[in-house]
Amino acid sequence: MTLLGIDLGTTAVKALLITENGETLASATVEYPLHTPRPLWSEQDPADWWRGTSEAIRQVLAQAGASGHDVRGIGLSGQMHGLTLLDRAGNVLRPAILWNDQRTAAQCDEIVHRAGGPMRTRELVANLPATSYTAPKLLWVREHEPDVYARVAHVLLPKDYIRYKLSGEFATEVGDATGTGLLDVRHRRWSDEMLALLDIPREWLPLCLESHEPTAQVSETAARETGLAAGTPIVGGSGDQPAAAVGLGSVREGIVNVTLGTSGVVFASVERYPPVRDTAVEVFCHAVPETWFFMGVMLSAGGSLRWHRDVIALGHPQLVTRQPSPADPYDLLLQSAAEVPIGAEGLIFLPYLTGERTPHRDPLARGAFVGLTLRHTQAHLARAVVEGISFGLRDSIELMRELGLHVNEVRAAGGGARSAIWRQMLADIFQADITLVNSTEGGAFGVALLAGVGIGLWRDTREACDAVIRVTSRTSPSDDPAVLRRYDEAYAHFRELYPALKPIFAQLER
Ligand code: XUL
Repeated sequence: MTLLGIDLGTTAVKALLITENGETLASATVEYPLHTPRPLWSEQDPADWWRGTSEAIRQVLAQAGASGHDVRGIGLSGQMHGLTLLDRAGNVLRPAILWNDQRTAAQCDEIVHRAGGPMRTRELVANLPATSYTAPKLLWVREHEPDVYARVAHVLLPKDYIRYKLSGEFATEVGDATGTGLLDVRHRRWSDEMLALLDIPREWLPLCLESHEPTAQVSETAARETGLAAGTPIVGGSGDQPAAAVGLGSVREGIVNVTLGTSGVVFASVERYPPVRDTAVEVFCHAVPETWFFMGVMLSAGGSLRWHRDVIALGHPQLVTRQPSPADPYDLLLQSAAEVPIGAEGLIFLPYLTGERTPHRDPLARGAFVGLTLRHTQAHLARAVVEGISFGLRDSIELMRELGLHVNEVRAAGGGARSAIWRQMLADIFQADITLVNSTEGGAFGVALLAGVGIGLWRDTREACDAVIRVTSRTSPSDDPAVLRRYDEAYAHFRELYPALKPIFAQLER
C-alpha cells in the first residue's frame, strides 16, 4: 500500500511514493520554465505544470514498479499564492501570475484602503496583503486586462489547478487559501466581507476544506494520462510551507521549524488564534484543524552564503589550495568561520541582498558589511555572513516570542541544516535546542501523510507524524553563559543597523 505526495514547486514538480511506515519508495522530479516577460513579472504556463505532473506521476510509478491501484491516497502541495484563471469551460485564460511576481504594489494599497485600514484588514483576513498574495493579482487583472477578467469563472491556486486536472473538481484547503488574502483565517472560511469589499464574486472561489479532508477523486481521463486508478481519493493537502512543516513533524505548539534554503523560513504552530496585532509575522491556517502558524520569511538566507561563496570566497586560499578536493566549499567556509571569535571582531553583515520580507517588509533593504578593519580576513567575512543570516532569523523568532510563543525545540531543514557548526550557532543565537529529523523529503512527504490521514490510516495528522517522524540529532545551546552573552551583544548591534541604514537604502535606489 502506498501514498502519493505531489509538490508543485516554482522550478519543478516532485512526485513521491511512500509506504505506510513513511519509507520512500520512489521519487521523480520534472522541471518546467518560468517566464519573466517584463521586469517584476513572474509567470508560468499551467499546461507546463500539468505536463510535468503527469510525467512525474508516470515516472514514480514506473520506478517503484507499482500500478495505479497500489496508490491509496494522494496529497497535493506546491508554490503558494499564484493566480490561475479559468473560463466557464475550464480553459486557462492567461499565464499564471506567481508568488514572486512584484507587479501589484498599488493593488495591495488599494485592498487596505477598501477594507478600511490595516487593522480592519487584519481583522478580516489576518494579514496585510503582500505582492505575493493572490487577491492583489486578481485586482491587477481587472484593471489591466478587462477582457480576460470578463471571462473569469474560476480562480485557482497552482496545486488546486492540478487537483482540477486530476479530478475535474474545484477545491482548495485552508492553508493555501490564507495566502490569497481572501480567507477569514480565524474561522477558516472565505471572508464574504472582504470579497464584497473587493467586489469579487464568491462563486469564482473553490470549495475550501481542511488539509486532511478528501476533496475529489481521480477521473477516468486523468487516470489514462497518469497511470493512476480512477476513483483514488485526493485530500486537501497544503501550501509548500505548511506541507513541509507536517513533513518535519512541526504540528504542535512549542515546536518551531527553520528552513535554510535560498530563502530562510521560520515556522511555528499555534493552537489558539492569536490576538490581532500589528506585526511583521504572518498568520496562516495550519494543515491541522484548529491550529494556525506564524511564519517569518527571510528572502536571502542560504542565498547570502551562496553569494559569499561565489563573489567573495572565490580567491579564498583554502578553497583554492584544496581544489580539486571533493570537500564542499560551504563546509570549508563554515569551518573557517568557526575559527573566528563570536561577533567576528566587530564585523556585522546585513543579509538583505534581495530586499526583505520579515521583519522588515522592504524591497529596498540592501546587504551591508559594517565595521570592516584591516584586521578582518576571509574567515571573518564568512563568520559575519553566517551570523547575519542567523540574527535575521532570530528577528522572526523574537517577534513570535512577543506574540506569546514559547519555543521548546527548533527543527532545522534545508541545505544549511547539514552543517553542525551552523546548527550550534543557531542553538546559541536562538537559545533553543536545534534538532534534525529522519524525514528529508519536504512538502511532498507532508502531504503524503495528510493523504494517509484522509483515508483513515491514522486518526489525525499529529498521530501520523508521531508514527513516522523521529528526532535523529539534537544540538543544545552552549552551557557557557559568556558565549550566549557575546551573541546577544552582537545581535543587539545587528538590530540597530537596519533602522540606521534604511534612509540610505532608499536614497541608493534613487
Ligand atoms: C509562502 C511563499 C513561498 C511560496 C513559494 O508564503 O511565498 O513559500 O509558496 O515557495
